[in-house]
Amino acid sequence: MIVVFLGPPGAGKGTQAKRLAKEKGFLHLSTGDLLREAVKKGTPLGKKAKEYMEKGELVPDELIVALIEEVLPEEGKVILDGFPRTVKQAEALEKMLERKGKKLDAVVLFEVPDEVVLERLSGRRVDPETGRVYHVKYDPPPPGVKVVQREDDRPEVIKRRLEVYRRQTAPLIEYYERKGLLKRVDASKPPEEVYRSLLEVLGDAA
Ligand code: AP5
Repeated sequence: MIVVFLGPPGAGKGTQAKRLAKEKGFLHLSTGDLLREAVKKGTPLGKKAKEYMEKGELVPDELIVALIEEVLPEEGKVILDGFPRTVKQAEALEKMLERKGKKLDAVVLFEVPDEVVLERLSGRRVDPETGRVYHVKYDPPPPGVKVVQREDDRPEVIKRRLEVYRRQTAPLIEYYERKGLLKRVDASKPPEEVYRSLLEVLGDAA
C-alpha cells in the first residue's frame, strides 16, 4: 500500500502523515525531513541540497530519486510525503514500483488557499531536539520547550516555494487525476477534520 501526499507547502501534509503513520502503521517517508537530516549531518547529499532548500527551489530530480530508491522498503504501508514533486519524479517512481512489482494506491491532494499557507508557515515552529512541529497559534509549544523557525519559513522563501509549487508540482494534479488516483481533501479545516477526511478518502486502504 503506497500513498502519496501532494499539496502546497504548509498544507499540513507532515502533520497528517505523522498521525496516520502512528495510528495505522504506515512508514512515513518525508523527502523534506530526509533532506534536512542530510543537511544537518553534512552528508554529500546534504551539502548539495542545502543551497536549493535555502532558496525554496527544488533539489534536482536525480538526487531525490536516488534518495527514495535507497529508503523505499520492499513491503508494508508507506506514505510518500512531498515526493514526487515533478512529473519526472512521478515517472521515476512508477518505474521504481514496477521493478518491485508494486503500484501506487492513492494520491491525496491537500487543498488549501494561499492565505492559509502563509499563516501556517509563518507561525510554524520546530523543536530542533525532537523534530516535533508546532504552530504558535494552532498548536503552541508547551512552556520550557525551545523551538526554532525553519530557514525556509521566512516570507521571501515562502513566496518562492509557492511559485515553485505552482510551476513544477501542480501539474501532478492533472497527471494523477488522469490515472484515476487523485483523492482531494479540504486541508483548510482543523487537524481533526482533515484526518477524518483523509481516512474517508483512503477507505479500506488505510
Ligand atoms: P518539505 O519539508 O517537504 O516542505 P513542503 O512541502 O513545503 O511542506 P512543509 O513541510 O512546509 O509543510 P507540510 O505540508 O508538511 O505542513 P505541516 O504539517 O508542517 O520540503 C522542503 C524543501 O526540501 C523543498 O522546498 C525542497 O527544496 C526540498 N524537497 C523536498 N522534497 C523534494 C522533492 N521531492 N523534490 C525536490 N526537492 C524536494 O504544517 C504546517 C504548519 O501548520 C505547522 O505549524 C502545523 O502545526 C500547522 N498545521 C498543520 N495542519 C493544520 C491545520 N489543519 N490547522 C491549523 N494548523 C495546522
